[in-house]
Amino acid sequence: MSGPSSPTADVTPDPAAAATAGAGSSAATGEASTAPTDDANTLDNLLAENRTFAPPESLAAKANATAESYQQAADDPEGFWAEQARALSWGRDFGAVVDWSDRPHARWFVGGGLNVAVNCVDRHVEAGHGDRVAIFWEGEPGDSEQITYSDLRVRVAQAANALTELGVSAGDRVAIYLPMIPQAVVAMLACARLGAAHSVVFAGFSAEALRSRISDAQASVVITADGQYRRGQAVNLKDAVDEAVAGADSPVQKVLVVRRTGGEVTWDEGRDVWWHEVVDAQPEQHEAQVFDSEQPLFILYTSGTTGKPKGILHTSGGYLTQAAYTHRVVFDLKPESDVYWCTADIGWVTGHSYIVYGPLANGASQVIYEGTPNTPDESRHWQIIDKYKVSIYYTAPTLIRTFMKWGADIPARFDLSSLRVLGSVGEPINPEAWMWYRVNIGRERCPIVDTWWQTETGAIMISPLPGVTHTKPGSAMTPIPGISAKIVNDEGVPVGHGQGGYLVIDKPWPSMLRTIYGDDQRFVDTYWSRFADQGYYFAGDGAKYDDDGAIWLLGRVDDVMNVSGHRISTTEVESALVSHEAVAEAAVVGAADDMTGQGIVAFVILRGGAVDDGDALVQQLRNHVAKEIGPIAKPKRILVVPELPKTRSGKIMRRLLRDIAENRATGDATTLQDPTVLNLISQGLGGNK
Ligand code: WT7
Repeated sequence: MSGPSSPTADVTPDPAAAATAGAGSSAATGEASTAPTDDANTLDNLLAENRTFAPPESLAAKANATAESYQQAADDPEGFWAEQARALSWGRDFGAVVDWSDRPHARWFVGGGLNVAVNCVDRHVEAGHGDRVAIFWEGEPGDSEQITYSDLRVRVAQAANALTELGVSAGDRVAIYLPMIPQAVVAMLACARLGAAHSVVFAGFSAEALRSRISDAQASVVITADGQYRRGQAVNLKDAVDEAVAGADSPVQKVLVVRRTGGEVTWDEGRDVWWHEVVDAQPEQHEAQVFDSEQPLFILYTSGTTGKPKGILHTSGGYLTQAAYTHRVVFDLKPESDVYWCTADIGWVTGHSYIVYGPLANGASQVIYEGTPNTPDESRHWQIIDKYKVSIYYTAPTLIRTFMKWGADIPARFDLSSLRVLGSVGEPINPEAWMWYRVNIGRERCPIVDTWWQTETGAIMISPLPGVTHTKPGSAMTPIPGISAKIVNDEGVPVGHGQGGYLVIDKPWPSMLRTIYGDDQRFVDTYWSRFADQGYYFAGDGAKYDDDGAIWLLGRVDDVMNVSGHRISTTEVESALVSHEAVAEAAVVGAADDMTGQGIVAFVILRGGAVDDGDALVQQLRNHVAKEIGPIAKPKRILVVPELPKTRSGKIMRRLLRDIAENRATGDATTLQDPTVLNLISQGLGGNK
């Protein structure tokens, strides 16, 4: 489906395949610089997609956003964003909308003050919506809970009081390593309420990944659980925290532990405290302070092109403004009647902006589901939609492709008539998956919003508006009102319709990252140096305009892979591999994969003396990567090779390895230092699957 060898590739446009084809080489890799413009076949494929789908009339008639918003925002972007900001509740009014004088460092809603948690919780209670359900929580084993905005107010106040007792105050950092349980949302909001920045670490990450994030952010408290349910099993989580904070140089003073599974945990009396003992006993009132619009709200780590993850820093007023605005218009949220469900994990930015901050700022009722989509069976999501009458469903292409594989007969058995808007995020959605989603889940009634954005952008940037846009299967269409993005060539000059290049954002936006925590130079270098002359933000994605000017995302142009919508850097996996005693050198590429978008393929050279005992060694190496980073980074294939293809300057030519990994004839190899290497590699791989 998304592989170039797919039998349908010639008749069906496929940006996912284009992504991998286009991502071959780039300025960032140091190889011969070829913008993703050059792939004529890809472009032809994309331009062959001319189906469009108009918004349903009933939805358009009552939509939160109209076509006029684009013009209004373009005429007066600052006025437009000020108006969106005023939909929030400010404790202190702001002056200037944006201060861009110290670019690339922006300040938004200058001098204004607010409390993010009050905006997400208390003000809805004060407005008379205390009895509205904020969270329909569905546990994996089948337990469930309904939490109203009044309940949430009490829980957040108690958690804020508890964190204060544990020594947390404004400006501190708190690490959160939790499964998808209500306490995860409560913990994030409690930090926000105190003006402490949270750093949520996905509970699927390893102890080592957690350790490096805790240490980079210098977090003084970790909030975790005894364990979590995954695929019907209770698995321990706290062991990883114990391992991560072991050692005298850990900044961690306290570990707050939610009892979720009831499993055995080891306990450090001076350090560990139970959530149910410390939080539940607290007073139900908490006096919230007003914090500056630029108060840090959270740090979230994401992979870059080096081995060290980047701590993306987001602040309060601008972030919340754009998270709330986009959630309202992109999903057309009607808080009184909609039931919204975003299937992401709070460990990723999608969970931050579209489970916690956007929906709650808008007073939405939402479903939060703890577990995997096939527990107890493959119909779990459709059961949940039916049970809670979900009207807005936001998920990822990799999951849609998985549902396709499981079969359309499974959703067909359920009443999905409550659905009215469908969303997609995380990677380019291939037109087949888009159409399958539209037909089998949306029953040809629901608009699909393919939302492009990043951890760094904080909120949605490019997306259809469901009551306005005539969508095309596979295109994220155009920047939303108030956002300006362009596709430019190598020199930073905007390209025309029908052409491709690099995606840039040419004007500051409210929810933009403010810096990389503790490494401002890296912030400047990574995002602002590629097109420094023009002052553009370089997103790291290739993209094309079709003949109508709609935007088609083509995937990363740097050494960052996208596996099931998750960013993993090739260097990170390479570092993990070479930290194993048997490995001398490693090169990692993302190869097109039908299910996960890209799959990780590693080429390793063994150390002298290491024995290649085939499967056992490969298994060992895969487990080693899981231990170093997390199971999501486990290579799908590991190929033991005698040599790696390198340029004369010693740079690994990943493009050629990708050709091999995708079973293609290798491309131009003239810059190879040793042209015989490719033969050596393919001979060695003769019997390899
Ligand atoms: C990268 C950002 C945004 C939340 C999830 C991922 C890719 C994201 C799309 C989309 C094509 C997409 C890009 C981007 N991406 N959404 N709708 N179409 N590509 O956040 O981990 O920060 O990754 O995901 O390559 O740069 P992230």
